Amino acid sequence: MDRIRLWDKEFELFIPEQKIQNAIAEMAQRIKTDIADSNPLFVSILNGAFMFTSDLMRELNGPYELTFARYSSYRGTSTTGSVQEIMPVKVDVKDRMVFLLEDIIDTGTTMQYVMNKLREQGAREVRLATMLYKPEAMRCNLVPDYVGLEIPTDFIVGYGLDYDELGRAYRDIYKLKSE
Ligand code: IMP
Ligand code: MG
Repeated sequence: MDRIRLWDKEFELFIPEQKIQNAIAEMAQRIKTDIADSNPLFVSILNGAFMFTSDLMRELNGPYELTFARYSSYRGTSTTGSVQEIMPVKVDVKDRMVFLLEDIIDTGTTMQYVMNKLREQGAREVRLATMLYKPEAMRCNLVPDYVGLEIPTDFIVGYGLDYDELGRAYRDIYKLKSE
């Protein structure tokens, strides 16, 4: 499919599945090396990171603990600037190496908030792995440790990402067509 329609908007194919999968395989290699022999905790940020998490964890193919958390800062196609805690991390992170798995880093507001909280809770180290990164939209003092693909500041859907809850299930990534 080259084009999709969600609610009132048209989207066009932007990143095909194979490019996403190649980026994940490379990221998994780097993460695997960095884990060394610590007992890491992976935290997948719902809902958006469900597909990325599934593909990355299958690449890692190891004995790792994985938990899920949920925050919200988006409405429609723009950020609200404040973070809501819908389902915080419940596992004790004290002295552990934590890998946060996120679908996309836009302004960085959500991840800055979560990383600070995990550090306050005593995590030994918090690393951030994101499938997509919009460096030009960044409004925080934060650099992701692992980036699948860098993209311009367009609004995108697919591969876990939604436009008002639609579009998450596509295996490719689509971007909003400029009107
Ligand atoms: P941030 O806090 O501004 O970095 O926003 C991160 C969250 O906003 C992500 O986890 C996504 O849920 C959402 N988001 C950011 N950019 C997009 C986009 O282009 N499409 C869909 N959701 C997005
Ligand atoms: Mg998200």
